[in-house]
Amino acid sequence: MLDKFLLKKSEPALPDSLLKRLNEARKKPMPNHVAIIMDGNGRWAKQRNLPRVAGHHEGMKTVHKITRFANELGVKALTLYAFSTENWKRPKFEVDFLMKLPGEYLTTYLPELIEKNVKVEMIGDFEALPKHTQQAIENARKATEQNDGLVLNFALNYGSRLELVNVVKHISELAVAQQIAPEDIDEAFVESCLMTGHLPELDLLIRTSGEVRLSNFMLWQLAYAELAFTNVYWPDYNEECLLEAIEDFQLRNRRFGSLG
Ligand code: FPP
Repeated sequence: MLDKFLLKKSEPALPDSLLKRLNEARKKPMPNHVAIIMDGNGRWAKQRNLPRVAGHHEGMKTVHKITRFANELGVKALTLYAFSTENWKRPKFEVDFLMKLPGEYLTTYLPELIEKNVKVEMIGDFEALPKHTQQAIENARKATEQNDGLVLNFALNYGSRLELVNVVKHISELAVAQQIAPEDIDEAFVESCLMTGHLPELDLLIRTSGEVRLSNFMLWQLAYAELAFTNVYWPDYNEECLLEAIEDFQLRNRRFGSLG
């Protein structure tokens, strides 16, 4: 099953040494939920004298590679920061290009995602996305809603502060309607109101490109996540990079505030 998938005619097979490491990693505790801040597309393009959007396009191919590998590893949810609520400030041409990528990615890879039991989801402000982006996401959501394998969760027009503001509004509305009392509000309840409420707890955050900041990404969810930063630009990020991050995660002693 693994070999059939990894040895697709159109794509180069992964080296045996990497497959061996993948199989070793699968025997150890796997992060259930991995999130990635996919950074460095612009710098990758600049290094090659290419327009910034060429970096984003190459980054889309990395999304495919990394989703496929995360699925093989047995990760349960992969959240990818594809567009932040702040990214609208970029030039219109770049924003338009970024908004077309979900459509292109899903047109190309949806059949494979369906075959591999991947479930496509999204967090972020869906209504403010262009109609064509909404349609691509909605179509993929519907086509994969019965799947129960890896959840591929795109953070699109997502901002953590906006998410938290919306949770506060939602809880206030419930309180005003007397459907909830202050003593009903605990961490589990707040968590259930987040857009990630149905997903496993976030275990590992990866940020590429050498930047060491969170950029308004999953601030609540990151409370006890392990953090991994790499200098590699997202278009160059590959299966071995993800495996290294997982192997490193598996060496960590997660204490969740106790003495372990
Ligand atoms: C940040 O790099 C990256 C983004 C704002 C966009 C990320 C999007 C992708 C990787 C493609 C998404 C694919 C799908 C299928 C939705 P940057 O442009 O800020 O890089 P820089 O810091 O080097 O300029």
